[in-house]
Amino acid sequence: MIFRINKIVLSCLCLILVTSFSCTTKDNSKLNKSNILDHKVDSLLALMTLEEKVGQMNLYNGFWEVTGPMPQEGDSKTKYDHLRKGWVGGMLNVKGVDNVRKMQQIAVEETRLGIPLIIGYDVIHGYKTLSPIPLAESASWDLEAIEKSARIAAVEASAAGINWTFAPMVDISRDPRWGRVMEGAGEDPYLGSKIAAARIKGFQGEDLSRPNTIAATAKHFAAYGFTEAGREYNTVDISTSKLYNMVLPPFKTAAENDVKTFMNSFNDLNGEPVSGSKYLQRDILKGEWNFKGFVVSDWASINEIIYWGRAKNKKEAAEIASKAGSDMDMEGYVYIKELVNLVKEGIVDERIINEAVGRILRVKFELGLFDDPYKYCNKENERKLIGQASHHEAALDMAKKSVVLLKNDNNLLPLKKEGQNIALIGHLANDKNSPLGSWRIASDDNTAISILEGMNAYKGNKLTYKKGVNLYEGITAFAQEVKINTTDRTGITEAINTAKDADVVVMVLGEHGFQSGEARSRTQLDLPGLQQELLEAVYKVNKNIVLVLQNGRPLALEWAAEHIPAILVSWQLGTQTGNAIAQVLYGDYNPSGKLPMTFPRNVGQIPIYYNYKNTGRATNREGNVFWSHYIDQENTPLFPFGHGLSYTNFDYSDLTIESQSYSINGTINISVSVSNVGDYDGKEVVQLYIRDLVGSIVRPVKELKGFELVSLKKGETKRIDFKLTKAELGFYNNNGEFIIESGDFEIFVGGSSDTKLKENFTLK
Ligand code: BGC
Repeated sequence: MIFRINKIVLSCLCLILVTSFSCTTKDNSKLNKSNILDHKVDSLLALMTLEEKVGQMNLYNGFWEVTGPMPQEGDSKTKYDHLRKGWVGGMLNVKGVDNVRKMQQIAVEETRLGIPLIIGYDVIHGYKTLSPIPLAESASWDLEAIEKSARIAAVEASAAGINWTFAPMVDISRDPRWGRVMEGAGEDPYLGSKIAAARIKGFQGEDLSRPNTIAATAKHFAAYGFTEAGREYNTVDISTSKLYNMVLPPFKTAAENDVKTFMNSFNDLNGEPVSGSKYLQRDILKGEWNFKGFVVSDWASINEIIYWGRAKNKKEAAEIASKAGSDMDMEGYVYIKELVNLVKEGIVDERIINEAVGRILRVKFELGLFDDPYKYCNKENERKLIGQASHHEAALDMAKKSVVLLKNDNNLLPLKKEGQNIALIGHLANDKNSPLGSWRIASDDNTAISILEGMNAYKGNKLTYKKGVNLYEGITAFAQEVKINTTDRTGITEAINTAKDADVVVMVLGEHGFQSGEARSRTQLDLPGLQQELLEAVYKVNKNIVLVLQNGRPLALEWAAEHIPAILVSWQLGTQTGNAIAQVLYGDYNPSGKLPMTFPRNVGQIPIYYNYKNTGRATNREGNVFWSHYIDQENTPLFPFGHGLSYTNFDYSDLTIESQSYSINGTINISVSVSNVGDYDGKEVVQLYIRDLVGSIVRPVKELKGFELVSLKKGETKRIDFKLTKAELGFYNNNGEFIIESGDFEIFVGGSSDTKLKENFTLK
């Protein structure tokens, strides 16, 4: 019986295919393809009962792993029962060909219509072969490498049965206290938009129906990165111009780049929990931006509309969220429980259900799941493609590109390869787990190359390793909470004794990989535990210290910045961490990373970011106390956005702008000479910023509007060109309208956001 009905669906789809094929031969346009898809979707919708339609709007967690609080309703019996009734549209946290096939078989072979499941997972920075965490990759400013990294993640994940990733996270954030900054591209909407596009392209490829591409998700829509005080799951209250200028650009770019799904978020926006925000989901995303994919809720976020106090019960939450345009309920059990009745009672129009289900089916068609629901379930691919050597090579390359050299006094780096006595100190130097970072999916614990292992591959020096102090005492198995050591100092003396006689001391200090990520907000941004004490104790006996930081967020390390001659930011670099760091330390790779987020001097400065607005009292005009400042700290950051050194030096000169005056519709051509004047070949991220001097609303003092990653041989000079048009010179006002205003502008070009090289022009 079941088989017979499936065949009916199949023949119905074949019919559409035949008719549509004759159309495509006449006009092979994108529009036509889209019409064909609409036909397919509509024909299938016409066969579905209301219960089956609501079922498609239901996303269940699998039976193996969890990434959120477990709801009471989610017992296995109910889930299997719903699966068999065709009341489940997709599953998350199911991985591996066997597991996926098992779930898919139920959907395809045991339900009335045999509609395949979409299988989602948080493939954030790789599947088994882990790349650096996304914030680290963003520090490369290397869009090609970032796209490739996402491509590899898609190849491995799809070989394990997954066809949908909950990435990229495109939340802009200015608050390093928020643990999820590790998962995004930092503080800048321009850089964030470019990186969003690269990641989506990497995941989705040119053709989503291929078995090695997966649907991507732009998340978390929207403004999650502006959570008050950097505290996870907190409230967000921001102006319309901030929303449009700072938060939305990467999401808009994602929609323009045909991202297949959006995920909403746990925060409210100006009083509206966003899973219930019609303004964001219907008016902006599906309206203004004409987004054709579907919106998935975050984990039980529709349910949480009740906890926010915006709905009194599940029924009201389901009504609010569905009307607002949330198409799929992730592990919330709200839609499945309430939507059928809401339609029957006439409270929710069935057209809302049809629209949501249509969007979901559309993505399933685009993935090719109706052609072959098991296309991602190939055992041979799973065995061959995951963890292959070329993926490790690419992860190593990406890891090296992600390293940022903050400081290098007296050219302490690169290290000499021979004849040196090197002390390597720090718990994290010998840690094979922490560098994998948060969101590690299928990679096994303790599989990163440690820094000790990486440095041991260089045989010319004497290398002595001492832990110093334990960073942590243990990690809880389920929640992966890190218990920091604050009492055991027993290893400090040993570390001091080793450091005393060393030519150079390499200290690897920072955060454990599980100290950032979801639900990992911090109020202190120092070195956790006893590491600062260790650093200062070693410094007393040997000042030749190279500090290698491992961190999932910007840290506030004023003492280190003042005293330690060389500092490398290495984030969590993934599987190839140790090899990457060793190659950078020994100069086999010349670092070129630039900070995608400002490093504050202390927590009290937060939020601190480069594109701040001027104020009425921005400078100390009169030499008295009445200006915008702190009495106990400078206004400037420890290290600005865009900062990052190289083992060579770059000189900027000859900044030219074709004319001093342009029409609003014109194109402004800018060029600059960049010379490698140091002793090594190297790469530089040449950055272009603008300042709109007078506006109808207050404008930021600087805004990134262009960048180029340039390779320069020792002694080489290149001329770099930039163009500015309306798109870069305009901005959104407080009505959410994009406007461009005449007036005077400044442009700045250089290797960091604090560059002083400047030119002017006027828009007429
Ligand atoms: C996170 C999402 C993630 C989802 C599924 C939520 O807690 O906020 O980013 O995709 O869980 O794992």
